[in-house]
Parts: sequence; C-alpha cells; structure tokens
Amino acid sequence: MAEVRLDNVSKVYDGGVRAVNDVDLTVEDGSLLVLVGPSGCGKSTTLRMVAGLEDITQGSIYIGGRRVNDVLPKNRDIAMVFQNYALYPHMTVYNNMAFGLKLRKYPRHEIDSRVRDAAELLEISPLLARRPKELSGGQAQRVAVGRAIVRHPKVFLFDEPLSNLDAKLRVQMRVEIARLHERLGATMIYVTHDQVEAMTLGSKVAVMKDGYVLQIDTPLGLYNHPVSKFVAGFIGSPPMNFLQGTLVQDAGAVRFECKDMTLMLPEGLARSVRSHVGQSVHLGVRPEDIHDRAFFPEVDEQNVKVLHTEVVEPLGAETLVYLRSQSSAQDIVAKLDSRSSPRVNQEFRVAFDASKAHVFDGKTEESLTYGAEDGGAASG
Ligand SMILES: Nc1ncnc2c1ncn2[C@@H]1O[C@H](COP(=O)(O)OP(=O)(O)OP(=O)(O)O)[C@@H](O)[C@H]1O
Ligand SMILES: [Mg+2]
Repeated sequence: MAEVRLDNVSKVYDGGVRAVNDVDLTVEDGSLLVLVGPSGCGKSTTLRMVAGLEDITQGSIYIGGRRVNDVLPKNRDIAMVFQNYALYPHMTVYNNMAFGLKLRKYPRHEIDSRVRDAAELLEISPLLARRPKELSGGQAQRVAVGRAIVRHPKVFLFDEPLSNLDAKLRVQMRVEIARLHERLGATMIYVTHDQVEAMTLGSKVAVMKDGYVLQIDTPLGLYNHPVSKFVAGFIGSPPMNFLQGTLVQDAGAVRFECKDMTLMLPEGLARSVRSHVGQSVHLGVRPEDIHDRAFFPEVDEQNVKVLHTEVVEPLGAETLVYLRSQSSAQDIVAKLDSRSSPRVNQEFRVAFDASKAHVFDGKTEESLTYGAEDGGAASG
C-alpha cells in the first residue's frame, strides 16, 4: 500500500486548455479520497495523471514516496476502474479477470488463486464461466472491480465507476466499495460528480472547480464549514438556500436584510461578520435549518417568517416544501421533519435557525464565518 501525493500539479492540454491548476493533495496510505466537482472541473484529468495516462505539465506526483512523473503506467502499481468497464466480450468472467495477470506472465496457479479470491470477495464466484453479455450491469461492474483487485495494486483509482448503474444498484455498489476499501486496506482515489456519493464514501473529500481544488475535508467538515458559497451550495441536498442582501448594524446586534426578508444574526455569527456591516453579502441557510414554527419554539421571534407554499413533497421521513416570499423575490426550500404536514398554496410559518447560517462575501463569495471560533455554523 502507498501514500499518493500531488505537489503543485497542473495540466495544460495541447491547444491551451488549463484542466488542472496547482493541485496539492495527499491521500494517506490506506485511505479513500473522493474527488468531486461539476462536469469538466478536471477530476478525470487529475486521476489520469496519477495513473500515468496523461503527461504532467507542471509539478510532481509521488506514489509510495517515489516520484512517478516519468514512470510508465504499468510500473506505477496502480489499477484503474472506469465508468465504461469495457470487459472483453468474447472472454469469460474468469478470463477477463485473469487477462492482465497472464500478460504479466504470472504463474498459472497464482492467477487462479487470485481470481478465485477476488470472485469470492465480490460474490461473483458462480459467474466465472459466463460471458459479459450474460451479466447484469451490477455484475459487470463487479467484474471490472475484480479485474483491478487481482492485480494487488498499491493504489486503486476509480473514475465514476457506478454512473452506468440505476439508482438502487448504485447505492448497493457504493456500500460494497466502502466495504472493499475496509477489507483491502488499500489506498483509493474515487472520482464522482455526485455529492451524495462523495459524502457517503469518502473519509476525505476534495471539492474541485475549474481545475482548482477548493477545499479538502471530511464530509461533515465540508458540510459544517464550507470555505465558499460554491462549496456550500455543492454539498448538501437539497442545496443550501442563498439570499443576497446587506448586513445592517442594529443597536448592539447585526441583522441581514434583503428584499422582503430580514433576519437577526445571533451574537457569535454577528461577531464574525461585523467587519462587513454595510456591505453586500450572501446569506446561506440549509433547508434542514428552516423549521415548521409549530415545532421550533426556541427561535428569535424576528426570524419567524410567513411564506407561501408552492410545492410540497412528502418523502416519508421528511417533507420538502418549496416556499416563496410575498413579493416573490425569494424562493426558499425547507426540509421539515415528518411531524409537519404543510399544504400547497397556504401561508406557512417557518422559523429560520440563524445560528446555523453561513455568510459569504458578496463579491468574492468566500465564507466570512469559516474558521471563526463560534460564528454560527462554525460551532458545528
Ligand atoms: N484530451 C483533451 N484535450 C483537450 N482538453 C481536454 C482533454 N480532455 C479533457 N479536456 C478538458 O479539460 C477539462 C477537464 O476535463 P476532465 O475530463 O478532467 O473533467 P471531469 O471533471 O472529469 O468532468 P466529467 O465529470 O464530465 O467527467 C475540460 O475542460 C475538458 O474539456
Ligand atoms: Mg471525468
């Protein structure tokens, strides 16, 4: 097993596209790092540079302490699983898994024991004699993972391996990959554009945008302490609500004002944003921090608002309600627990838990509350 380290890595493709910019990243030995971000942000390019499938324009990549910039892919001791798992259609499952080892001239008995061990681990032993067209999507995906496992690589690289599967199977395979990571204790880098997948899988998650890594943290670290409006909006489902407005000094306190909405900020939060009084900011409140007034008594009365219910989605354990302010200037989503049963087209009283709010600079969109000792969200 091995640590993977990217030191100031950039990639400029022929033609000038800057796909990856100054990325510093350490994946500790035996840990699983998820790279997440919107389409085109440079996730695959980063992974392919680790694999050796793309040249590195600038910077260094180390695997197990060895600089691998000029090491051929086959000598890097990595195995990669792609989205289109590309099994050889004319070969059995057994031979698909054995193929790479045969090429590398492993002894027959060694190949056999590795293939059978991997098949057992992935619960595909009964399928070894089948051909790919006789497999379901999930089974084919497992064979693709098996092909990587038999190599006993130091590092596993996954590039959106589950995106061809339907939603239910994806959840199941996600659990299996997490379990696999635990059992093999291998270093893994997992690329996805799905933030839910990132949050459930990664012990560490790196959020990318436009070729830059914006933040690396644990899933809860990202959720509670996003460095910027982008990260705040990307992590969490439904996404955080953002209101654009101004901070106003109100006696000893600070309040946030936007078109037909005013919210009082609690003391801790006010302290970390005081330097921005009078300036334009984005206030972020997660749907789960907006409550049915009836079940949230301990709220500052000034942060109770009457909003109009546009759409109600009862999901069982919780209910999503899409709300609109009086002059329709603000759309807001609230995630209510199952005790609430709002109806469509009604005036509905919600309580904003401002202690969980985030405040972002109106221009740079960087968090003003990040790193603050007890600024609202920063207290967790
Ligand atoms: N071979 C190439 N030549 C030139 N530009 C490329 C090449 N491959 C990718 N790019 C560009 O580099 C940027 C990053 O692409 P990359 O494939 O790494 O994104 P990604 O984050 O994996 O996206 P997705 O989620 O859609 O897979 C994009 O702007 C893309 O158009
Ligand atoms: Mg990609």
